[in-house]
Amino acid sequence: MISKYVFGQPVETGAAVMEVPECTQPLSLMQTEQTPEGVRFFCGMDRMDVVYGLGEQMRGINKRGFSYISYATDDPVHTESRHALYGGHNFLILSRRNLPSFGVFVDDPGRVVFDVGETKLDRLEITASCDCVLYVIEGDSLNDIAGQFRKLVGRSYIAPKWAFGYQQSRWGYTNEADVCTVVNGYHGCGIPLDAVYLDIDYMENYKDFTVDRERFPDFAGLVASMKEQGVHLVPIIDAGVKVEPGYPVYDEGVANNYFCKEEDGTDFTGAVWPGRSHFPDVLNSAAREWFGSKYQWLIDQGIDGFWNDMNEPSVFYSEKRLKSIMDEVLSMKEEHPDMHSFWLLKDKLGSLANNRDDYKSFYHNMDGVKVCHDKVHNLYGYHMTKAAAEAFDRIVPDRRILLFSRSSYIGMHRYGGIWTGDNASWWSHLLLSIQQMPSLNLCGILYTGSDIGGFGCDATQDLLMRWLEFGIFTPLMRNHAAFGTREQEVYQFENIGDFRNIIRIRYGLVPYLYSEYMKAALTDGLYFRPLAFDYPADAHAPKVEDQLMVGESIMIAPVYTQNADGRYVYLPQDMLMVRMKSLEERHCEVLKKGHHYVDVALNEVVFFVKKGCMLPMAVLDENIKSIEGIDASGYEWIGFADDTAEYVLYDDDGLSKEYVPRSEWKKVTMVMAGAGTVNVRC
Ligand code: NOJ
Repeated sequence: MISKYVFGQPVETGAAVMEVPECTQPLSLMQTEQTPEGVRFFCGMDRMDVVYGLGEQMRGINKRGFSYISYATDDPVHTESRHALYGGHNFLILSRRNLPSFGVFVDDPGRVVFDVGETKLDRLEITASCDCVLYVIEGDSLNDIAGQFRKLVGRSYIAPKWAFGYQQSRWGYTNEADVCTVVNGYHGCGIPLDAVYLDIDYMENYKDFTVDRERFPDFAGLVASMKEQGVHLVPIIDAGVKVEPGYPVYDEGVANNYFCKEEDGTDFTGAVWPGRSHFPDVLNSAAREWFGSKYQWLIDQGIDGFWNDMNEPSVFYSEKRLKSIMDEVLSMKEEHPDMHSFWLLKDKLGSLANNRDDYKSFYHNMDGVKVCHDKVHNLYGYHMTKAAAEAFDRIVPDRRILLFSRSSYIGMHRYGGIWTGDNASWWSHLLLSIQQMPSLNLCGILYTGSDIGGFGCDATQDLLMRWLEFGIFTPLMRNHAAFGTREQEVYQFENIGDFRNIIRIRYGLVPYLYSEYMKAALTDGLYFRPLAFDYPADAHAPKVEDQLMVGESIMIAPVYTQNADGRYVYLPQDMLMVRMKSLEERHCEVLKKGHHYVDVALNEVVFFVKKGCMLPMAVLDENIKSIEGIDASGYEWIGFADDTAEYVLYDDDGLSKEYVPRSEWKKVTMVMAGAGTVNVRC
């Protein structure tokens, strides 16, 4: 049951797609109070209660013990103390031990604070603005509450099947030769690869919808020749448009008033990679249609995937703030420099980037209504991505295009996925990315993954290998690194054979992973789930922070600490442990419900099959280069049951939007001759 409460005059965010009548009864599951900041909802939490959700945030699967701020922020240092990352995902479930659980979605695109037991251990407190909509969702189980929420906000984005292949990125591939080196590097080692990313350096002076002709003399030719090898090129699109008279995107934007405005009606200027930039007013429908239509030029060159970046929007500095700070600094020049002036200077300069006062200083024209950006801040990345997705529907209505964004708000999950931004090559960030996945799924974001190997800092061979062993289960499996860091394409390291085996295991798993992704998307279900969602009666399951259910059949327990040769794993039921050094080298063993120490060598993938379940594994050709090469005519099956195991297999052409109706999904049943692998091809 979903109850809707309206406060003040909320902005229409488009997050909810289901009509829910406004509730006339007072809110009973939480109390409400007005505060100087807005409206506050609060309730008590029992010691054993668990809070799930909030999408892209720091900390664990259980969000208790910290405050989270929904205010999209380009902060590349994801430490434990950070309160906000790039998204605004205002949905959580309070899972209560002794009382019915419920979900809460605060539809407010401005700043919302979730104090989940930070100030007081036993109190959940949500502070939104005076203009917001609150949805309270009651249900029979955690899965039921999550499912109702997902129905409320609409079906998740569906990526093309090739986007489930392995993908390589790096900020620093600057020309055609760099792209060829990467593709040859992988193919030369017999490792499949489905995409190479083009970061900002493919553009001419970081101008959106341009390609540097010196460095990419025949861009369309390169795109086509890569595609012949099964590799899709995926360019980045940034939010900021370079201020440069004569550059058509700039000229058209200025002429039509398509950029965000200062209070006085002039175009707001902030600096990002291209230098002085304006920001398309994607909250205005005409500007959104215009900006979206610009993607066509790249689609015409053969591009079929994009990543939208810097769309919090990130502002390194605003022109007016820089000027005022410069003036202040210059006025300090005559003073005798001391510690005080040093810290003052440091703080002033440090406050330039992504300053909330800048966000408070510019405006959108929301189809005739002037709205301050700060009030709708979290909608920017969402609407930039919506602009692209709506344009794709016009340009290539029958085809799926890969699209994901850095910033997002609930509702954007219908138009694209996200990646989790600028993490680092830290072991703690491997764990963080494991923990972020179910939280994101709960908010509808299914097509997601982290920068494998870590974006900032230098990756070591063991970190990359362990990260890949987890990454083979994330829908977006992309290795990405920052400019200036150690090169981390897998062929830069020793033991290429091990890397090859791990990536080939991903391709072997694709029939299962794609099937599970599609079923989750088409039924508003969860692809990644915390253990407690599948085992509600198990008292230990809610405490497990480093294992996940992936699809219907399996559980994973990745190794995320350095120098470890195994880890403790909790099994909520008897399961079949599958240990793989390669697709061909497979060992299965039944483990009993309970705690186990499981050895996992650095070059091994281990996962666990639930009882009564099974999964398909593709049999790969030695020379497979991309997803296209997977033979779908017959799979091997791994299953675990005393008698029969069942699996519902979804498959389609991976490209069109003609999804297979549920009545036609294939149910595969196998009679087991004892627990273990069924090596039949069918
Ligand atoms: C920030 C993004 O998060 C990162 O992935 C990208 O490489 C840089 N911008 C440069 O475009």
